[in-house]
Amino acid sequence: MYRVACVVGTRPEAIKMAPLILALREDARFAVTVLATGQHTDMLRQALAHFGITADVNLNIMRDRQTLDHITSAVLTGVGGFLDGSPQDMILVHGDTSTTFAAALAGFYRHIPVGHVEAGLRSRNMSLPFPEEANRVLTDRLASLFFAPTEGDAENLRREGVPGSAVRVTGNTVIDALFWTLRNLKGTPEALQDVPGTAPLILMTAHRRESWGEPLHRICGAAAELLRERPEIRFLIPLHKNPTVREAIRQDLGAFAGGASPRVIFTEPLDYPDFVSAMNRSLFILSDSGGIQEEASALRKPVLILRTLSERPDAVTQGTGVLVGTDPEKILREARRLLDDAEYRENFARRAGSPFGDGTASVKILETMARYLEDGTRWTA
Ligand code: UD1
Ligand code: UDP
Repeated sequence: MYRVACVVGTRPEAIKMAPLILALREDARFAVTVLATGQHTDMLRQALAHFGITADVNLNIMRDRQTLDHITSAVLTGVGGFLDGSPQDMILVHGDTSTTFAAALAGFYRHIPVGHVEAGLRSRNMSLPFPEEANRVLTDRLASLFFAPTEGDAENLRREGVPGSAVRVTGNTVIDALFWTLRNLKGTPEALQDVPGTAPLILMTAHRRESWGEPLHRICGAAAELLRERPEIRFLIPLHKNPTVREAIRQDLGAFAGGASPRVIFTEPLDYPDFVSAMNRSLFILSDSGGIQEEASALRKPVLILRTLSERPDAVTQGTGVLVGTDPEKILREARRLLDDAEYRENFARRAGSPFGDGTASVKILETMARYLEDGTRWTA
């Protein structure tokens, strides 16, 4: 049996690794350890629980308002210590968080092959998103096997000198997670039970580090303006647990959240099926999240991307997402158009599809891992 540690630290890593963990666990060739760094506490547990997964090992590194230095050093020593005590044939990391990079480094230091799930995404600006672009680039320098969601992501890797034999285009496992969840929805989320069926609903999430401070206030300012000019609309805002983010959003939009029929509904992070239902119920989504851009295109939902550039260009080129950045004028212009122009809105749905995969990414990754491990030779130079 091949010993494989699947490392997860934050909510999106949990959601996107879950289908792969489930597939690996069902395959007798693999002995799987789910290694949580605990970069997130509640949000990680919540996301894993939806898939019936609990971490086998949890390093519990999270601190309130933690620094990048803390996450990186605590994950490096924590994952390193785990690997010294429980040697692995491969470790899998996902995406672009500080857990991803530091865990990959711990594997690299021990000559353990690192499989990077969601490899090759590039914005080509090391500050946007920050620090995720650096985490991706650095992780891909350390990895041995590269699971690229799209052909464009694979091309990015080849252009950087990664041998083509080590790269496999698999689609994004988020689509596996989404399809799995669509088969297990629970009905209207509690938070939306009192929202009239006729009310246009806008789902909003924002948490990126580069948006802390002024940019986040500009985003909220645009939302407030929209709420003032359109009495019929409602916002659903599941607040990220990050106190810096939730304090800013509550401060700017709290005035709309009171009364018997609040215009802004704040909730704690929704569990994944409720969040998927909320995406389905919304007219459109305002978000700076990476995963939500991918899900929205599969769900045929317009998404206004609160970033100036995206490492997921397919959402934009395919026309299911629009980059609006944090400029209130751009946000308002696109939001008004989506509210007023049904044909414009429906065009998003017509253009949508799933450039990010067809729900079979986990199987492709698993089979590639098995071949790599059976082969016994290193595929990378
Ligand atoms: C992290 C990732 C980001 C990813 C995001 C997904 C890094 C540097 N950042 O950002 O790439 O897009 O997760 O959500 O890797 N907190 C809690 N409970 C939780 C989670 C967070 O209280 O369950 C609070 C803590 O005070 C913590 C703070 O949020 O210190 C920030 O968490 P952190 O992981 O550093 O940053 P995120 O903004 O969540
Ligand atoms: N999500 C969720 N509940 C919420 C908000 C988001 O389950 O209340 C899911 C969302 O569907 C997506 C992922 O969490 O799969 C995105 O996580 P986040 O925005 O924290 O990180 P990012 O994608 O920006 O790295």
